[in-house]
Amino acid sequence: MYNEKVLEHFKNPHNVGTIEDPDGFAEVGSSECGDTMKMYLRVKNGRIEDVRYQTYGCCAAIASSSIATDMVKGKTIDEADAITKADIVEALGGLPEKKIHCSLMVEDAIHAAIADYRSKHNK
Ligand code: FES
Repeated sequence: MYNEKVLEHFKNPHNVGTIEDPDGFAEVGSSECGDTMKMYLRVKNGRIEDVRYQTYGCCAAIASSSIATDMVKGKTIDEADAITKADIVEALGGLPEKKIHCSLMVEDAIHAAIADYRSKHNK
């Protein structure tokens, strides 16, 4: 069902954890399955210096969280905000159709954590 890249990120997920006193934070859920995730951002000089997450979801959600946080790290806020579920799925080399909503949860978490950062820092 899953390709090798997805399974590799699922077995060895990158950037798992939390950030104390994050610059941006969000907790989101998937309306489709009820799974949830939390995302924490550390922003320095307009760039995402660090990003961590806790995902309570399926293999596709964990793999999407892992690769998306790799993609976000080092990007400007605007660049990170432009990442979509299609970018995440492409980076993973594809997901089964019925698992696309899992990558949407990760896209939602990125956007919501950035929105939290912007609202707290007047950006
Ligand atoms: Fe819920 Fe994948 S089935 S996030």
